[in-house]
Amino acid sequence: MEKKDLIIRVAGEGGEGIISSGDFIASACARAGLEVYTFKTFPAEIKGGYAMYQVRASADKVWNQGDTFDVFCAFNGEAYELNKHLLTPGTAIVYDYPGGDFEPEIPEGVAGYPIPMSATAKELGSYRAKNMVALGALSVLFNIVEETLIRVLTDKFAKKGEKVLSINLAAFEKGKELAAALEKKDEWALAEAQDPKDVIIIAGNDAVGLGAILGELDFFSAYPITPATEVAKYVSIHIPKIGGTLVQAEDEIASISQVLGASYAGAKSMTATSGPGLALMSEMLGMAAMSETPLMLVDVQRGGPSTGLPTKHEQSDLFLAIHGVHGDAPRVVLSVEHVQDCVEMTIEALNLAEEYQTPVILLSDGSLAFSTQTIPTPKPGSYKIVDRKLWDGQGTYKRYQLTDDLISPMANPGTPGAMHISTGLEHGEDGAPKYAPENHELMHRKRFDKIKPIVDRYPPAELDGVEGEADIGIITWGSTIGVVREGVARLVEQGYKVKAMYPKLMWPMPVDQYEAFNSTCKQILVPEVNFQGQLSHFLRAETSLKPIPYTICGGLPFTPAMIVDKVKEMV
Ligand code: COA
Repeated sequence: MEKKDLIIRVAGEGGEGIISSGDFIASACARAGLEVYTFKTFPAEIKGGYAMYQVRASADKVWNQGDTFDVFCAFNGEAYELNKHLLTPGTAIVYDYPGGDFEPEIPEGVAGYPIPMSATAKELGSYRAKNMVALGALSVLFNIVEETLIRVLTDKFAKKGEKVLSINLAAFEKGKELAAALEKKDEWALAEAQDPKDVIIIAGNDAVGLGAILGELDFFSAYPITPATEVAKYVSIHIPKIGGTLVQAEDEIASISQVLGASYAGAKSMTATSGPGLALMSEMLGMAAMSETPLMLVDVQRGGPSTGLPTKHEQSDLFLAIHGVHGDAPRVVLSVEHVQDCVEMTIEALNLAEEYQTPVILLSDGSLAFSTQTIPTPKPGSYKIVDRKLWDGQGTYKRYQLTDDLISPMANPGTPGAMHISTGLEHGEDGAPKYAPENHELMHRKRFDKIKPIVDRYPPAELDGVEGEADIGIITWGSTIGVVREGVARLVEQGYKVKAMYPKLMWPMPVDQYEAFNSTCKQILVPEVNFQGQLSHFLRAETSLKPIPYTICGGLPFTPAMIVDKVKEMV
């Protein structure tokens, strides 16, 4: 039975090449014209600990990593113990035996394939090649396009020298032989190669970096932090090609300060960090709001608080992103759903910062950071790029002039006739410090009212599911949207009156859209991956909605089945 949508999970010890194996399978499937969505989780330690990589490959579009796996490849006993409860009839397990550190019990109806991965790798002279033995076996057992697999593993290992490459190619071939000698006991096979589509396969963090380049970024400063570092890594490679600059600062406070300074000097600037970094950056975000300086910040959320779960998934920075600053300071907060959003919404976030001269925070998350997905090939030059309003040189220059749209023309330092004071102190239209009570009220109104039009100008939140009246309305955000899409599709197919709303502009809140959605639903369910139900909190605070929070915070994303079961329980 050709499975249009096959989910393969590879798991074992960090350092055994789990991530590479998954990446190779994902790349090979994408090059074979299949839609790909991957999920990976690994320990905070550099070596050791449980690492897992899941590839979902389909002839049709896929929006999430799925409920569970069809095929499980266990590199060690720990991985087997953590996943054996998912070995249900119809699934298959490929396991390191004999010679591994465990011997699984194969449940009735589960196809078991023993492959001596470790022993074979040792015979070949490199234990590291264990993952390539596994890959060779998987390619034979489940019809993963061999040529493309060999091409991607050659691309990766050729850089490590001829010896490493040849051992790994030999390991791959040996894995194929070992699998070919086994009787095929299940019906799983990857969909045949499809007509090549005009797509790329890219991970979320790289896609944010690509969006920055396509958004014509001039300056990027950051301090490395899991799971955001790859954004800076990508930008560091490509920003010189467009004449831009990247600086790795000594800490997060320095990096946002450099971004603010560069932006003040006229450069389109951004930084990328995770929750702990965002917390450190809050004071300078206040400075950006007060000085009305464009600034874009990507927050790749991780498990918090404090060091928390640095490599695990969570959506728990909404409170910090929206209100994390002292005083009343406006900002715009967007959140991405998938990798294509990571490209396109990075460009949008840069545009909004430039146009409204305010901080814009783009929320991504740990599962999306490392999730590789197939997306339509981005087309340079096809995106709307917005630059800041600049003074036309006429009349007397006032940095904070009260214009009709409350957005005052900027002037790069050194512009003749545009000399002005720029300060974090409260100030008048000319920028000079001003303490009059009525002025503080006036400038607050300016800073807050200038971004209000975004709610109407930003595309309305996408609606999904049944039209008109619904028993259950689901509101969710970030990468959880992809899971809810599949859950809603299954529920509607089973006749449930359920609909969903997928906001991406988180702040300022599209209150009217939430109210309109609410007026057609008997109950509102809000699934999100954090402990307090942070979006639910804002819905209660800013709208008349009575949301029912549905929160998980185990470092893993929702699955479609969880959404389906919850709605059925409610109905
Ligand atoms: N032959 C030779 N080299 C191989 C190989 C093979 N058969 N299979 C994999 N490798 C290499 C990979 O190329 C990679 O090296 P590279 O980084 O130079 O490319 C390395 O071995 C690790 O393999 P990989 O498959 O990428 O990862 P893994 O599954 O072994 O897991 C991690 C290792 C991901 C857990 C670990 O490397 C890591 O990154 N930990 C950091 C976690 C973190 O972010 N902590 C911060 C907390 S604040």
